[in-house]
Amino acid sequence: MSRRILVTSALPYANGALHIGHMLEYIQTDIWVRYQRLMGNDCQWVWADDAHGTPIMLKAEAEGVTPEELIARVKTEHERDIAGFLLSPDNFHTTHSDENREMATLIYKRLEEAGHIIKRTIKQLYDSEKQMFLPDRYVKGICPNCGTADQYGDNCENCSATYDATALKEPISQVSGTTPELRDSEQYFFALSTFGDMLKEWTDSGSLQPEVANKLKEWLESGLQDWDISRNAPYFGFEIPDAPGKYFYVWLDAPIAYIASHKHLCQRTGEDWEVSWKPDSDVEVYHFIGKDIINFHCLFWPAMLEGANFRKPTGVFAHGFLTIDNLKMSKSRGTSITIETWLKHLKPEYLRYYYASKLSGSVVDLNMNFDDFITRVNADLVGKVVNIASRCAGFISKKFDGKLAAEYPEHLQNDYTQFTSAQQMIMQYYEQREYGKAMREIMLLAEHANTYINDAEPWVKIKDENALTEVQQICTVGLNYFRIIVTYLSPVLPELARQTEEFLNTSLSLASLETPLCDHPINKFKPMMTRVESSQIEKILEETKGSSEQTNAQAIANANSSVEAIKPEIEIDDFNKVDLRVAIITDAQKVDGADKLVQLTLDIGIETRTVFAGIKAAYTPESLIGRRTVMVANLKPRKMRFGVSSGMVLAAGPGGSDIFILTPDDGAEPGMRVK
Ligand code: MSP
Ligand code: ZN
Repeated sequence: MSRRILVTSALPYANGALHIGHMLEYIQTDIWVRYQRLMGNDCQWVWADDAHGTPIMLKAEAEGVTPEELIARVKTEHERDIAGFLLSPDNFHTTHSDENREMATLIYKRLEEAGHIIKRTIKQLYDSEKQMFLPDRYVKGICPNCGTADQYGDNCENCSATYDATALKEPISQVSGTTPELRDSEQYFFALSTFGDMLKEWTDSGSLQPEVANKLKEWLESGLQDWDISRNAPYFGFEIPDAPGKYFYVWLDAPIAYIASHKHLCQRTGEDWEVSWKPDSDVEVYHFIGKDIINFHCLFWPAMLEGANFRKPTGVFAHGFLTIDNLKMSKSRGTSITIETWLKHLKPEYLRYYYASKLSGSVVDLNMNFDDFITRVNADLVGKVVNIASRCAGFISKKFDGKLAAEYPEHLQNDYTQFTSAQQMIMQYYEQREYGKAMREIMLLAEHANTYINDAEPWVKIKDENALTEVQQICTVGLNYFRIIVTYLSPVLPELARQTEEFLNTSLSLASLETPLCDHPINKFKPMMTRVESSQIEKILEETKGSSEQTNAQAIANANSSVEAIKPEIEIDDFNKVDLRVAIITDAQKVDGADKLVQLTLDIGIETRTVFAGIKAAYTPESLIGRRTVMVANLKPRKMRFGVSSGMVLAAGPGGSDIFILTPDDGAEPGMRVK
């Protein structure tokens, strides 16, 4: 019996372009969905743009358009990119829709009736110039824990303490540059803390990857806090029923749009959306998400669903982040490649295959290296797969009137069966999202097919009039191998599959592979895929750098206008108190439980130091090992949540992924004083 499956991907924010980082998730989803359909399962993919929240409101304001105009424009761009990358969602909706307003209201009302919504008055920072309450990310000030300046209102990038924005010292509104005031504000909370037992059970239910389940256990052990689901006007979102001036927080209605998008689809198909979402539904529901939004999907979301008497997801599939040469994608490094730029220079299937060849079912990051990309794609797709067809096709069309041999050679029946029975393992790998393993199995088949053709040498035999039947058979075998391989690859390479259907004059399906294609007219072979050239990658990087230089220039202009004032003058003696030393980073490790920190082991000649640096958003730990940098060697050791930090590494930049450690030249020996 075929399974009924509903799949979602995380909703991209409607204030920016899709880039190849997003595409890691969306390609992973698309492959899985296409694989399910190939298996004959009834699999629907519902998706949307995430159109609410303060950043979208402010961006629209900055552009001088309404939020509705902004999100409509971005949705068209996203839809263009989705089609361009051959993604096959059944519906791409928006969180700013009637269906979602109704669904959010329904869920909220159910939660309220069941006593899961609590009103509380809290103190919040208010920008009286801009006349708005400030979200955490729009306030900066001095960390209340370690005293580092210029930290966001939710946590410190230096010591990774988390706190309330109201605890920041000397807070400054990032919207107006003025000092915000404290104001009382009544907010609506979702009583997450009452769902602890249910979440514990869910964590152990097998719905989650082991890494995710462990993370969840940590959170559950440290205690659940009720969740503020309301925001004050002005806000772009849905007003909360019976609460004028209060809006649903963007993260409340965003996951609800999974259901709303499905309902919107059902209006077209005539299906009943509720069947899939009631507690005992036998439809399977899976969410594909990035590792950064696990808390929303594995804590808040299942609790909301449970509290509103909906079913919980069957599984949540979290993936890691795309890194480029082991660094986080970054605008200032010119590696934030948009889909629009990619598609100007390269076909989507190259990236689809590259990601597939590197993806697994775990939460680890996936690294992209362009030399590796070019080699992999050219060697596998052009050199191994398409090559099979191009070596056999010409003989069939020129010498045999475009017709495959009447019968499949008896002595190769076993080999054929080996090709078809590889299906089981390959499909199982797809099911487990072990695409890398699936691609390796498929490439083994492609290698086998090429070896067969090499050994059979049809190009030699074609010169022998008596061997013509044999040549037709060899090419028929080769093209049957090609047909099997492309069928297995079809979830990854839908366009290659379509071209192959046209060429082989047949439709590809798993069932039809049981009998080889013989005595069958095929069409003329047209080149299916060309080699990737490094010049194409260069153009992509150039174009990306060009647009990031503009944004850098803007950033510098912005930084200069919102200036951090120069601190009071110091004497040369004050400066001389700071002991700066060249250090070699001999080890760098991530710090469990800290989002921003990297633990560095620094060799400064005379001794080794351990320093925690808030640079994880900009550097992966591995990429730091072996590099030189500069440290403050006489900074009083500070006890932090994760250990003692003995010193500080010098870095420049506005923060987040845009931060750069100082890197002295190779000649600088560890321990040298920096003057
Ligand atoms: N709007 C929220 C999701 C709401 S879901 C109810 C959001 N949007 S996002 O645009 O920031 O990210 C969308 C998805 O893309 C997330 O799953 C995120 O993890 C993923 N990625 C964004 N950048 C990525 C990389 N560089 N690498 C891999 N995935 C990335 O979060
Ligand atoms: Zn701090």
